[in-house]
Amino acid sequence: MPKMTFVERDGTRRDVDAPVGLSVLEIAHKHDIDLEGACEGSLACATCHVVVDPEWAAKLSAPTDDEEDMLDLAFGLEKTSRLGCQIVMTDALDGLTVGLPKAG
Ligand code: FES
Repeated sequence: MPKMTFVERDGTRRDVDAPVGLSVLEIAHKHDIDLEGACEGSLACATCHVVVDPEWAAKLSAPTDDEEDMLDLAFGLEKTSRLGCQIVMTDALDGLTVGLPKAG
């Protein structure tokens, strides 16, 4: 099974199992990572904001306009910010690393 790494706000790295087909948000919840996801993946909030490790950012499919619009509302936006509910795990993403945003 692929794995992914969450970097928590204090810099702690958490390596977790990342089943193919689950979103980063679902994976976070499975492992008690503090990522909110208030709208449960329906692109109506920005509380599932994660900052993708720059090495991985280019490997993800590009965000949709709806995701971009929602990201504009996120706090602590960075160049590689994405919505965790829109990143779906695949075998190719084994090792994916995302950080929780410092603010918000
Ligand atoms: S959980 Fe609301 S946009 Fe991702």
